[in-house]
Amino acid sequence: MRIPTIEIIQDKDLPKNYTDLMNKWRKIEFGPDEIKHFKKDYFPSAKFFFVKDGKEIVAFGGLRDISISYLGKNHKILGICNIISIEKGKGYGQILISAMISYLKKTGKTGLGFTKKTAFFKKTLLNIRKDFIKRFVYRNPITKEEIVDNAGDGIYYDGKDGFIKKVLSTNSIVYIDIPHW
Ligand SMILES: CC(C)(COP(=O)(O)OP(=O)(O)OC[C@H]1O[C@@H](n2cnc3c(N)ncnc32)[C@H](O)[C@@H]1OP(=O)(O)O)[C@@H](O)C(=O)NCCC(=O)NCCS
Repeated sequence: MRIPTIEIIQDKDLPKNYTDLMNKWRKIEFGPDEIKHFKKDYFPSAKFFFVKDGKEIVAFGGLRDISISYLGKNHKILGICNIISIEKGKGYGQILISAMISYLKKTGKTGLGFTKKTAFFKKTLLNIRKDFIKRFVYRNPITKEEIVDNAGDGIYYDGKDGFIKKVLSTNSIVYIDIPHW
């Protein structure tokens, strides 16, 4: 059996065949309206992780820049996003998340995502916080309109900033700059 490899690519450097493949699978897994412009929609920056079996991409996911306002202070974390395993049930999802955690460990950054696929993430080394999304409110920077999403458990790795620990130590609202990442 071949050992899977990991390729990490910055959003602006993504080849077209990679973005086409991700959009094909986003449509299949998330619905027809879920296609992305990978070089624009992940502003200001994102890194994408690819699990490869030889030349074939078998799973992928992203870490994107998220700006947060919490207790009057600004924080920068990485949003765990775009997680799809193309060949399911072969351990590729697990390998993908391990690679993303290694990156977070190496950089010391905090990674946070929201999911309804908690049963899978429980098998990874990410921490889980039930219904964590209820603490997070999107506030449109221009209109100040607020959007609350009520469905989703938190999956996270707390970085050197201890951001998640700080959030868990209060009940205050956390303002995010992207409604769904
Ligand atoms: C969720 C997903 C990424 C899992 O990927 P995968 O490659 O099939 O997962 P793995 O083969 O690495 O499985 C790792 C473990 O999780 C378990 N697992 C995987 N999917 C699961 C699920 N939906 N429910 C419960 N357990 C699950 C596996 O049984 C395995 O357990 P084991 O280690 O005890 O054998 C994949 O099903 C997928 O792409 N789903 C559609 C897109 C999606 O929902 N993404 C998440 C958005 S937040």
